[in-house]
Amino acid sequence: MTKPKHVGIIMDGNGRWAQLRGRPRTFGHIKGARVAKKVISACAEMGIENLTLYAFSTENWLRPEQEVAFLMRLLGRYLKRETENLLAENIRFSVIGNVASLPKEMRTVVQDTISATQHCTGMRLIFALSYGSRQEIVATTKALALKVQNGELEVSDIDESLFSMNLSTHPAPDLDLMIRTSGEQRVSNFLLWQSAYSELYFTRTLWPDFNRTELEQIFAYFLSRERRFGQVTEQYEQPSH
Ligand code: IPE
Ligand code: IPE
Ligand code: MG
Repeated sequence: MTKPKHVGIIMDGNGRWAQLRGRPRTFGHIKGARVAKKVISACAEMGIENLTLYAFSTENWLRPEQEVAFLMRLLGRYLKRETENLLAENIRFSVIGNVASLPKEMRTVVQDTISATQHCTGMRLIFALSYGSRQEIVATTKALALKVQNGELEVSDIDESLFSMNLSTHPAPDLDLMIRTSGEQRVSNFLLWQSAYSELYFTRTLWPDFNRTELEQIFAYFLSRERRFGQVTEQYEQPSH
């Protein structure tokens, strides 16, 4: 088993981490952003080709207005500050999700970071911002339906590969490993299609306490898994398959 080509992380538990310390939830988000920075660098250093971080879900818009506004400001500031480091680490930044729903300043920062790093050839860092996997699947379906309507595509041309190519994560491959912190064992509308054969790893660690050592342990666990993709062990031991 080789190292994962695409890792996805549901960075959960910021609020609880802060509340355990008698601090407002926002304090946890600040610490969480610092941890994200370290994890990004660690993944780039370890040669992970694609890293998708769930930073804000479609459903997170339903949180109290103040928390949403804080998260948007924090994410904007974070991206602005980190662009230099991304460049230094040769990381190419991209975003999946409904970017149009983000506040204007945030859209500008996102666009600037994408443009500034587009020539980078190292790890692809994908921020899931205002992202929901069901919404993504519906959007892809609509885009393909429109092409059929316009006569650019035949219904019979639609297959798994074409569908994947029209998802926002393209050209990143399917997710190999999905990690969720905070002890929750659910996927919360993250990369539903792309995780069809992912290894799932749930840790009780709250995101602000997550670190490189634990990440390395999870990668070691991943390497120990036998991924059969519906087949049997013997087939997977044959290099021709
Ligand atoms: C994850 O931490 C960050 C976001 C969803 C933006 P939470 O804010 O969900 O923290 P908990 O789960 O309430 O502890
Ligand atoms: C998932 O965490 C989204 C992000 C980490 C950005 P949530 O805290 O929103 O998920 P639920 O509500 O516990 O399922
Ligand atoms: Mg949460």
